Amino acid sequence: MKMQMKMKSNGHVTDLKTLNDLPTPPGFPLVGNMLRLDSSERHHLLDEWVGEYGSMYRFRQGPKKNIVVITDADLQNEVLLERPGRFRRMSTIETVFDEMGIGCVFSAEGDYWRAQRKVVNQMLGLKYQRLFLPTLTHHVTRLQAHWEKAAEQNLAVDVHHDLLRISLDVIVAFIFGQDINSRQNRGEEIHQLLGDIFVTLSRRIHSITPYWRYVKLPVDREVVGTVSQMVAILHEFVAVARQRMSDQPELAEKPTNYLEAILAEKDETDRPKYSDKEIVGNVLIMLLAGEDAIADVLTWTMYNICAYPEIQQKLQEEVAAAQEIEPNLETMEAIDALKFTDAVVSETLRMHPADHALFMETDEDVELGGYLIPKGTVIFLLIRFSMQDDDNFGLGTEFHPERWLAARNCPFHGAHNRKAFVPFGNGPRGCPGRTLSYLEMKRIVAMICHNFDIQFADGPPTMTEEWGILMTPRGLSVRFTRRQPVEEGVLAAVSAK
Ligand code: HEM
Repeated sequence: MKMQMKMKSNGHVTDLKTLNDLPTPPGFPLVGNMLRLDSSERHHLLDEWVGEYGSMYRFRQGPKKNIVVITDADLQNEVLLERPGRFRRMSTIETVFDEMGIGCVFSAEGDYWRAQRKVVNQMLGLKYQRLFLPTLTHHVTRLQAHWEKAAEQNLAVDVHHDLLRISLDVIVAFIFGQDINSRQNRGEEIHQLLGDIFVTLSRRIHSITPYWRYVKLPVDREVVGTVSQMVAILHEFVAVARQRMSDQPELAEKPTNYLEAILAEKDETDRPKYSDKEIVGNVLIMLLAGEDAIADVLTWTMYNICAYPEIQQKLQEEVAAAQEIEPNLETMEAIDALKFTDAVVSETLRMHPADHALFMETDEDVELGGYLIPKGTVIFLLIRFSMQDDDNFGLGTEFHPERWLAARNCPFHGAHNRKAFVPFGNGPRGCPGRTLSYLEMKRIVAMICHNFDIQFADGPPTMTEEWGILMTPRGLSVRFTRRQPVEEGVLAAVSAK
């Protein structure tokens, strides 16, 4: 029997269905549906249930907790855009980050989020990206040097491994203005620590019960040390930046990176606006976001370039044309000329966004899609499902970068619902790193296509993905063949290693 509720919305009285009216897979009394969902393969099951229960369904985590799953693009956008307000990020994220002592712009809500987000927006803007282009060339050339060596020895390369390291170097350079070189000790140490923190965050965010508050497993004891080690390293970066700002006071007016900008923020009594703890948390989230998400998406981009040789050739032609504007691609004009490269990255993000789902929560009792959803209900937005849905993007499970070049609906591939394209989320809490990510990914793809022909090392691989916070791709191994004689500078970088 359907239960009808009445609620005032915009002054009108509306009949609404309740959570109990949403279709749901059968579960068990105490654990609900969690027995089937407790694995890194759960994304397949959530997608499968869409086929059985429709574009809005619920499942149960434990005896009482309902989680609503949504694939409809309009409803997804309603949730994303009405933050802060009717919706928020899933509150478990805030609790887990805070408990680990790394609360930040990603996990926080309210005034603290607003203030942090202002600084983040300012520092991730185009002005700083433009200034960053020569540094980006430096890092990309180092990766090129590494792959030149692999080409020379005809080695099969685990590119995800290398991409994680360059992404970390790039984001550290952008945020701190320092070169950690992940192929050497310090970078590798930071990479390992971040990896361990990421795993714990993901495990705790998806755990049915917060067991670590009552029983500490060895892994929970270890992570305390891991976080302190990471925090100690970040404090060193903060100390270096403080010293630099004391030596060059003009940096307070014209900061050159995120760390300087946040250190320069003052409250009304002219004291530092943010504590070191707050600064460290916010820097840490940028490192986590900047390293893994970019490496994951670039891995799939390289997969696609190997899988479609005709696309690889088109990219090679495009980068040659862009280099006529500026040989090192160190101007935004040259980067902007990489239109097809942009389309390849967008198409990869559509099919393989770093997030399978975005985790939200109602921040008040809300009406959504005709249902009354009580405050505190968790909502999973299955964004990958929607981005591959034929109703939003024609031939949605096929890779067609050209669809991004058409002005409106693609004449060849049908539907092209840009509103459904949300690999970076949307609205005030959408990803502030979006343009920096495109810049970095395009620059790396351009380097690859200028210098190498790439192919799968041992034929098309069977790729798998692990769902933690992000979707980590596994199984890609690539062989590089030189297209260009190696330049002198690159050779020097190779022999210096
Ligand atoms: C391919 C690369 C990336 C992808 C796919 C990605 C994706 C996302 C997504 C889906 C969100 C949640 C958005 C929402 O709730 O609407 C997000 C948030 C965020 N991202 Fe990214 N991201 C990427 C790179 C970066 C980079 C490079 C940075 C920083 C340098 C960054 C910093 C952040 C921050 C700080 C937030 C939290 C924003 C807030 O809550 O206000 N991301 N990202």
